[in-house]
Amino acid sequence: MSDKDILNAIVNETGTPFYVYDACRIRENIQRIQKAFKETKIHYSLKANPCLGVCKIISDAGIEAEIASPFEAKVAVEAGFNPAEILYDGPGKTSLNISDNLDSGLRRFNIESMTELERVKKITNGNTRHLSLCFRINPLEAGNAAEKMTGKPSRFGIDIEELPACLDKAASDGFKINGIHLYLGSQILSDEQLTANYRAGLNIITEHYEKFYTEDKIDYVFGGGFGIPYQDNDTTINPEYLAESFKKLRVEYGLRDKITTRFELGRYIIGNAGRYLAKVVDIKVSRGEKFITLDGGINHFMRYVMTRAKHRISSLNSTSTDLEPAEICGQTCTPYDVISIADMPKDIAIGDIIVLEDAGAYGWSMGIQNFLSFPSCAEVILDKNNFQTVRRKNNFDDLMKLNIS
Ligand SMILES: Cc1ncc(COP(=O)(O)O)c(C=O)c1O
Repeated sequence: MSDKDILNAIVNETGTPFYVYDACRIRENIQRIQKAFKETKIHYSLKANPCLGVCKIISDAGIEAEIASPFEAKVAVEAGFNPAEILYDGPGKTSLNISDNLDSGLRRFNIESMTELERVKKITNGNTRHLSLCFRINPLEAGNAAEKMTGKPSRFGIDIEELPACLDKAASDGFKINGIHLYLGSQILSDEQLTANYRAGLNIITEHYEKFYTEDKIDYVFGGGFGIPYQDNDTTINPEYLAESFKKLRVEYGLRDKITTRFELGRYIIGNAGRYLAKVVDIKVSRGEKFITLDGGINHFMRYVMTRAKHRISSLNSTSTDLEPAEICGQTCTPYDVISIADMPKDIAIGDIIVLEDAGAYGWSMGIQNFLSFPSCAEVILDKNNFQTVRRKNNFDDLMKLNIS
């Protein structure tokens, strides 16, 4: 069966809009990382895509998880990830979040502030020795990640200037801080930048080595931010080259046997394995500009409005190579409902199916699903020629059943 035939078969069975994830591609992405980074623990960031079916494929492939909310933790455990290895990230962890995640069996926390650490102490009645705690660091600069989170005043992490005092305070309060967490930003496409980021963490560990708890090894949680190409002319990162240069750095710093590196990867694992399909419901030319309206939009896919990220996009039905620019938008009543601006086949027609590539990460999980009460979209897993809907669209009953009258 050709790719086109399979997609048409899914359209006929599931109805648009939907995401489809290629299980083989997910496994290939994981295998490439596992093979290259033999000395590194790989964690899948559920925030990129928390679909249970996807998570099961990833946990079966033998890596660990990273979560940022109690529900994500429960999904991860349900999917088969080992709770004791799950990393718990995210700013503003409340006491309830912390106790829920402890109940789910989580033990590895990346701490974003000293008040958060206090909350951990309260919830555990000071019995924190069985926990593995890392301080997330907000360094002075964060290089050139497309989506930066630190390296500036930020709610993420502990400002590097304050790290020595925070480590002292934590130790005097009876905590053992096992290492650092450094996540500078997402969608980094330069091997040199990733290597510089990795080095930045090694500098921090080296400078403050004596203050970390080192009964075993220090944890270096490196939220890689490994990027993927979204356009034909985007560069790609080279995992084998990165693995070699990271290893050289560990040796150069004399840390090879003293640290455990852990990556948190979302986009690299699931991004290019997902596609979003929606049907053209209207086409209009307004004052010379073309608008293609779909039966899906920002309620399912927000990346374009949030980051201006342009994905490769095509029509499943049209074979015409005669293209013209169009705004591809959704049905909701906001000018922000745009999923891309792209050159599309001139002969595109109502009823055609649009395919948005590389939509596996930050697609379904970031959409504003409830806006205007259109149904959510389905999620489908394709494994070789077999496909299965692993999350159905919601229906009116699903929408109503949370109302209390
Ligand atoms: C702390 C943290 N870790 C990991 C990730 C996953 O990043 P990516 O999908 O770029 O691999 C993110 C994404 O925002 C994050 O904030």
